[in-house]
Amino acid sequence: MARITPNLNIMIRAAEKAARGLIRDFGEVEQLQVSQKGPGDFVSAADRKAEQVIFEELQMARPDYGFLMEESGEKEGKDADNRWIVDPLDGTTNFLHGIPHWAISIALEHKGEIIAGVVYDPIKDEMFRAEKNEGAFVSRRRLRVSGRTDLMDSVIGTGQPRRAVEKQAKFMKEYAAVTAVAPAMRRYGAAALDLAYVAAGRLDGFWERDLKPWDVAAGYIILKEAGGFISHIDDDRKDPVFTGNVLAGNDKIFTDLKKVLRAV
Ligand code: IPD
Ligand code: CA
Ligand code: CA
Repeated sequence: MARITPNLNIMIRAAEKAARGLIRDFGEVEQLQVSQKGPGDFVSAADRKAEQVIFEELQMARPDYGFLMEESGEKEGKDADNRWIVDPLDGTTNFLHGIPHWAISIALEHKGEIIAGVVYDPIKDEMFRAEKNEGAFVSRRRLRVSGRTDLMDSVIGTGQPRRAVEKQAKFMKEYAAVTAVAPAMRRYGAAALDLAYVAAGRLDGFWERDLKPWDVAAGYIILKEAGGFISHIDDDRKDPVFTGNVLAGNDKIFTDLKKVLRAV
């Protein structure tokens, strides 16, 4: 088991603390589900509360670091080199519908580079974590991408854009092209976990457009440390984390999936 450095330890503790509140709230959602008003407002409050818990924990431990958070946006720190990137609840739609597949995602960016990440699924108690050059782990087990080499035998994850009609149309074309050569597709609804699942060899590949840095940052380093590949879908020179345009997989599936998507 690789050593857990102080920064990673701080991230793990913040994720665990936020998870306790979210698990309680997830229990409530099942009750609210049947009420007429539905759990909508309740869930956005749960989301904000979790972000506040993470913010306080991280700030207490590293008072000078900056933040990029989904709910409260950017907060500059005195230390311009280090920034936390936080999604307090990835998979909100699942959470809202009582589907037990959502996570907390926290990454650390140092001088523009993602150097550590945790993606915590508290329902399954799986803490995916990685630090640059230290390997990737889930709880105590080392992560390694799958060895599958044939799209036909692969399981490929994706996510579809929610709004814009033209983006939907493009997605449907891509979906048709990929499913023709890789029929086992999954759409789980929590992008941070999708990337962690590629790192764990559960998924062999993944692509999604229009994500945000907090969906991708932690999964990015976990995947890379597990021997995976990740890039922008259309342009190798562009950054996948900050453009939110993401293609990932093991070596072979990443290369094959890229060819399929670029031909659409
Ligand atoms: C969403 C999830 C989902 C992806 C969406 C994201 P949220 O994050 O990661 O899988 O398809 O694009 O916005 O809103 O649940 O934090
Ligand atoms: Ca998210
Ligand atoms: Ca979120």
